[in-house]
Amino acid sequence: MSASTTNEQPAIPAHLRRLVLTGFMGAGKTTVGRLLAARLRWEFLDLDAEIESRTGLSVPSIFSQYGEAHFRQLESAALASVLNRSRIVLALGGGAPETLANRLLLEQAPHTAIVFLDAPFHVLYNRCRGQSTQPVGVPPDPIRPLLAHPVAAEARFLVRQPIYRRLAHLTLETAHTDPEQAVAAILKGLISLD
Ligand code: S3P
Repeated sequence: MSASTTNEQPAIPAHLRRLVLTGFMGAGKTTVGRLLAARLRWEFLDLDAEIESRTGLSVPSIFSQYGEAHFRQLESAALASVLNRSRIVLALGGGAPETLANRLLLEQAPHTAIVFLDAPFHVLYNRCRGQSTQPVGVPPDPIRPLLAHPVAAEARFLVRQPIYRRLAHLTLETAHTDPEQAVAAILKGLISLD
């Protein structure tokens, strides 16, 4: 029986202490991250949730009350702090790798594998749209302020793609992959990083 059909803990390279999931909004970082953490019996952390618990404010409130630049400062501080922890699967916010200081933190984090969940913009946008309770014509996702303007969101996507790619030890195409398949592919891909 394979590990995927049992509760057996999957084998990943022994030196790894942290798995970091990156990708644009809608890539499935949180969903896949939770499943992956459960399989590994590691802790799951979501950087946005970490910022929200530190500030007592939701991400949209931080954007609307203090602006994006302030959110990015909070994001960098939270990232620096959580990267000290071990046996974690960390889902980054989609914009975290755009900040140079965050890229340096991630590149220099020891025993850390970075996994990029990739998909075309229209797939990601429609996924977020599908998760939304907003009617058509209203910004697609009240929890993702940066998707309010699709053209600007696509421009950000294009800027970020090469950044995600360069940073990642492993890239996974997720347009036609469900979260369970993504977890299986990540676990398989990690073995090759040994
Ligand atoms: C952002 C992505 C969001 C959140 C914030 C900004 C971005 O996280 O951090 O709204 O700049 O792409 P998710 O990628 O988890 O939606």
